[in-house]
Amino acid sequence: MSVSYMTHPLIKHKITLLRKTTTGTNEFRKLIEEIAMLMGYEALADLPTADIEVSTPIEDTVQPVINGKKLAVVPILRAGLGMVNGILALVPSAKVGHIGLYRDPETHLPHEYYCKLPEAIDERQIVVVDPMLATGGSAVAAVDFIKARGGKKIKFMSVIAAPEGVSALMKAHPDIQLYVGCLDRCLNENAYICPGLGDAGDRIFGTQ
Ligand code: PRP
Ligand code: URA
Repeated sequence: MSVSYMTHPLIKHKITLLRKTTTGTNEFRKLIEEIAMLMGYEALADLPTADIEVSTPIEDTVQPVINGKKLAVVPILRAGLGMVNGILALVPSAKVGHIGLYRDPETHLPHEYYCKLPEAIDERQIVVVDPMLATGGSAVAAVDFIKARGGKKIKFMSVIAAPEGVSALMKAHPDIQLYVGCLDRCLNENAYICPGLGDAGDRIFGTQ
């Protein structure tokens, strides 16, 4: 598995703002979307293109376009939803699937409650999005579900990751490409990322 850590100063700046306790729901949502777009720009740098004929005011020419219909964005509910529009801003014709997972507060193990993916998933470039990669349990389970339904070409984008989560995902799915906004220090006793940003789902949706 390849792991890419974001180095762009704009991404670093926005992740710092995201972490602040004083960042409210509205600003948090906006930042997550912007970070997803900036990370998506990096993560989609290897999208294949196909040549089409176009006529400019000067002459006819053959030029490259991407096939957005071949892209599937798959947020892990709930928090991954906050990243979807950032990717769609780049590739508006991408299809969107959903995987519903929550972490058991006691065991920290992921539980699936929903999975709906676009058709012909085996032919698509899939981008799974979830802001937090903590123990890696949710990420590993999400990629398991996608592969069980035929998904093959998988990229995973997380805004903040713990070393434990990166290792778990690398071990379980060495064939995927992982994009991490920032690698944090460790997990605490409740399996929250330190320094992290708290509970991403609660901060995006204003719940507690
Ligand atoms: C959060 C986060 C990830 C998961 C990461 O979701 O959005 O999906 O935890 O933790 P892990 O790497 O240890 O599995 P949560 O279960 O809190 O659900 P929510 O998005 O509905 O709040
Ligand atoms: N899920 C979150 O939302 N935050 C963490 O720090 C870990 C898991």
